[in-house]
Amino acid sequence: MVNRGYVPPPTFHSQRMREMPDGYLFDVITNGVRNMPAYRYQVPVRDRWTIVAYLRALQRSQNAALEDIPQPLRDEVR
Ligand code: HEM
Repeated sequence: MVNRGYVPPPTFHSQRMREMPDGYLFDVITNGVRNMPAYRYQVPVRDRWTIVAYLRALQRSQNAALEDIPQPLRDEVR
């Protein structure tokens, strides 16, 4: 949450963010972008990729299709 004095980071749930390649997200963490600082010195490479995978899980959590659910469980969520 940003009230003043800093550029608000964008949501991960926009179509543009969903379509970003994994490598772009990795690059943003590594080198920063515009007002976002780089995290290459604080976050080891393996952790950066782990963050990318976690972001993908967060994106899926808000954007799932019925087909993503195993067939036997679909009736429970309809
Ligand atoms: C390490 C986990 C993080 C990831 C994966 C991440 C990812 C991203 C991505 C994908 C963008 C959008 C880039 C674009 O528009 O092309 C972004 C923007 C931004 N992030 Fe992060 N970020 C992380 C951590 C942080 C942290 C810790 C901060 C604050 C200290 C931050 C501040 C920002 C800001 C201010 C922007 C907007 C930059 C601008 O448009 O000027 N991010 N981030």
